[in-house]
Amino acid sequence: MKKIKVGLIGAGFMGRTHSNAYKSVNNIFGDEVVPELTAVADINADNAKALAERYGFQRWTTEWKEIVADPEIELVDITTPNASHCPIAMEAARHGKHVYCEKPLAMTAAEAVEATRVVEEAGVVSSVGFNYVRNPIQQYVRELIASGELGEAVNFRGMYDQDYYNDPEQKHEWRMFKSASASGALGDLASHTLSLSQYLVGDIAEVCGMTKIVVPERPDPKEPSKLLPVENDDVVQFLFNFRNGACGAIFSNRLAAGRKMSLGYEIQMTNGCIVYNQENQNQVQIYRHDDDKRERGFKTVLIAPGHGEYERFFGGAGICLGYADQKTIEVYHTLKCIVENRPCEIDFRFGMKVMQVIDAVLESAETRQWVAIR
Ligand SMILES: NC(=O)c1ccc[n+]([C@@H]2O[C@H](COP(=O)([O-])OP(=O)(O)OC[C@H]3O[C@@H](n4cnc5c(N)ncnc54)[C@H](O)[C@@H]3O)[C@@H](O)[C@H]2O)c1
Repeated sequence: MKKIKVGLIGAGFMGRTHSNAYKSVNNIFGDEVVPELTAVADINADNAKALAERYGFQRWTTEWKEIVADPEIELVDITTPNASHCPIAMEAARHGKHVYCEKPLAMTAAEAVEATRVVEEAGVVSSVGFNYVRNPIQQYVRELIASGELGEAVNFRGMYDQDYYNDPEQKHEWRMFKSASASGALGDLASHTLSLSQYLVGDIAEVCGMTKIVVPERPDPKEPSKLLPVENDDVVQFLFNFRNGACGAIFSNRLAAGRKMSLGYEIQMTNGCIVYNQENQNQVQIYRHDDDKRERGFKTVLIAPGHGEYERFFGGAGICLGYADQKTIEVYHTLKCIVENRPCEIDFRFGMKVMQVIDAVLESAETRQWVAIR
């Protein structure tokens, strides 16, 4: 059994979600590698203290620099708003710490390239929080595509719609300031769809996109009579070409009335089709054109043993997993890669490629031109 001392930075929603995953990982995956919740930092002392007490971190601080410089800590986990991801990750890697960072990896592609260079040169393990890729059913889809049974991918149609900002009276938050989050729906939501497209179909070569701000001002949470500007996209839409010749399109709206967790895709293949939506995360629809003509139609495949790590949770098919389980799988992979001293599948280089597409979409929206991924 190997213990890994974890320093968590950011004690908000994702800080709680990651802490829960550290608490669950050994129940599901056994005690081959055991995370020790050593320290938590948050600029908000109440958040840091509350998280430390609730999840049993040994100490807390308001200074993230104490965590990255702490000789005891082996893994720095970053769950702060986007602007601080790379500065913290690079400092941690320079101190020889492994880094696990929430998405989107960076504010810009250039920053992501730099952070990737720093972690790779430091020789530390890096991991990025694209947890939807960790749904075991996505490993099945990836294997199905790679098998060639459905032919070649022709078209990836993806989306991520939610209605969490549908009410124009909903208060402003850091996600709407460019200084904290370079993009809006694009980095917050569509980055997840991009991670799935990249994981399942391949790297993207060029994009053509548009963005739109629908609600330009929102009440200041501290003084609701005052309005603050919404500086980044509520809606983003973009077309693209993969390097392997397939084409694609992704749509995302953070004000999409009625859509709660509509992260999904339809992958149209030369000899079949695959349809998935996160609102039914335990199933995928598969169409095989080779089926008997009289029986051609979409078939529902429920999550089952043989799909990724599903069997570590349950021995029988269709006993459903949830969002928190994806994070537990993500934490397991991160810890296992550290112990085995090998790169994570969803590492900074993977997160960097997503950032390169995000930057290209923003540039395309600005210039109204197709933009090649550099
Ligand atoms: N993978 C997912 O499904 C998912 C879901 C939600 C959020 N996220 C990502 O997680 C990150 C955090 O989002 P959230 O929803 O938890 O936000 P949040 O606002 O709930 O929490 C952020 C926390 O970070 C703290 N913080 C801010 N700046 C800090 C700094 N410099 N040092 C230390 N603490 C600091 C804040 O005080 C707050 O407690 C974002 O990058 C977001 O994109 C990922």
